[in-house]
Amino acid sequence: MTVTRDLDAGIAALDPLGADAVMRSLPQANIAADTAWLLSRAVHVSQHAAGIRDVAPARAALRDLGMLTASLARHTGQDIAPPAVEAAMLHLGEVADEIPRETVYSYSTRNPRGPRRRSFTDTPGEHRFIDEVTAASDALDIAIEHCRHLSAAVDKHEADAGAGIVHHQLRAFGGHLLTVKRHLTPQYFTGRLRPYFPALTIAGTTYYAPGGAQMPLLVIDVLLLSQAANGELAAWFEQYLDDNATYLPPHHRALIDAARGVPGLARLANRHPYLRSATGTLIDDLLRFRLPHRQLARANMAIRDEGSLGSGGYTTDALDQLIAVTKQARALLTPGAPRE
Ligand code: HEM
Repeated sequence: MTVTRDLDAGIAALDPLGADAVMRSLPQANIAADTAWLLSRAVHVSQHAAGIRDVAPARAALRDLGMLTASLARHTGQDIAPPAVEAAMLHLGEVADEIPRETVYSYSTRNPRGPRRRSFTDTPGEHRFIDEVTAASDALDIAIEHCRHLSAAVDKHEADAGAGIVHHQLRAFGGHLLTVKRHLTPQYFTGRLRPYFPALTIAGTTYYAPGGAQMPLLVIDVLLLSQAANGELAAWFEQYLDDNATYLPPHHRALIDAARGVPGLARLANRHPYLRSATGTLIDDLLRFRLPHRQLARANMAIRDEGSLGSGGYTTDALDQLIAVTKQARALLTPGAPRE
């Protein structure tokens, strides 16, 4: 088990709002667009929030209350929660030491399997989506555990051995994306699922819905790509990290904060040739995920209204920028690249 798997498996088992039955009925209420039921259940379960004082139950409660609130927003078209629900979410966010709504962790690694599974639609496509994103996040978590120590490798042998483990996990991560790409059509994802991922305004701040930009890949990005880009691209990447790190749990935010202040593996490998092959393999893995992922995102955007955003609030331009950052980092490893 890794840090996140341990913590999140514990959270998945919890039902601190006594909401198991409500969450089981959520897909039916969504099919019926029953806003009266959604409102009354959200307000009702919110009453249990004030008594929650510990981190794990607070995170489990945000998972459930967040999904109810997102469903309500999807059917009313209003991006604000009823006052009692908003107050409960703010309290839970504070106790959880996280944003005051559900995140991609809530929807995946903190989502129970089997009959207690939380979903918006209870469709086979959504269950597959949740399973694949969960497995993808688990792979990233193992990758992080090994990647964070790579910069301390003392020779090529140690660097290549560590990178081998990370490589295996990043390939698995990319494989889960390909499974989603094969099984979920853009019509299904964009038409059926995406509406349940609205941005919400909570106490005057906009919080985006669960989405890929909140996945633990952000930690790997910083470990590999920190300080690798130049000029406007570097400024864009810093902003992207600022915008999205806030959605991660504290142990991943701490890794990001620490790694942002120092050169990532690409910059280190530019100076230390024994890190080059290890780092090159991992950056290629990132590209092997990012290129087909962008295709999938573009196929979805092609059937949406002009200017539509992903659940993280971006257009596919953000994916272009990330690919450009990743390629700039890759170029630092080419023999003869200017020494940074
Ligand atoms: C049909 C499904 C999908 C669509 C339409 C889609 C679309 C997008 C979009 C538009 C973004 C930009 C940020 C935003 O606005 O949310 C994004 C980011 C991201 N998505 Fe997806 N995505 C899908 C599935 C997946 C899956 C299954 C994974 C992982 C297995 C994934 C991982 C990521 C990651 C890690 C990012 C951050 C950007 C990056 O690291 O390249 N996405 N996605």
